[in-house]
Amino acid sequence: MKGLAFIGMMGSGKTTISQKVAKDLALTYYSIDQEIEKDHKMTVSSIFSKHGENHFRESETNTIKQLVAKPNIVIDCGGGVVLNKENIQIMKDNGFKVVFLNREISDIIGDIDFETRPLLKDNHDKIYNIYNERLHLYMEHADVIINNTGCLMTQYARILNEIK
Ligand code: S3P
Repeated sequence: MKGLAFIGMMGSGKTTISQKVAKDLALTYYSIDQEIEKDHKMTVSSIFSKHGENHFRESETNTIKQLVAKPNIVIDCGGGVVLNKENIQIMKDNGFKVVFLNREISDIIGDIDFETRPLLKDNHDKIYNIYNERLHLYMEHADVIINNTGCLMTQYARILNEIK
């Protein structure tokens, strides 16, 4: 395994788990969103409003192409990377293991920051449609599925074993 890529819905806990896993497995953590924000010198929300979603999606693919060249990394993917099959293919072709972090929408709604998610900030209920549209993609692309039931850290040792 060259590295790990975490996929899943916005608010599923990808950033928390991928930062912890990176630390514990001595891998370097990268967030696709953060890389795009650095390149553009603006937030994801501003990129969506100034350049549009299509531009953001192209930036995701370009960022993935750059990141997969790096050894021993964890990629924290934005929730929408599964919308383009090529994104997943690039990561798999480069030896990345894809881990789907699955979390109930009712749990996500409790602690997600809607304001920083351009797809949701004007209509929080859209999260249900997005989940229904994407669940099969997350399932289909995952090498490993982890259920975030709110006690992720109590199952952490087992999870680490599964994704190593
Ligand atoms: C998106 C998820 C976000 C970010 C953008 C679009 C999506 O990342 O990439 O707002 O389409 O699901 P997180 O999953 O880290 O919130």
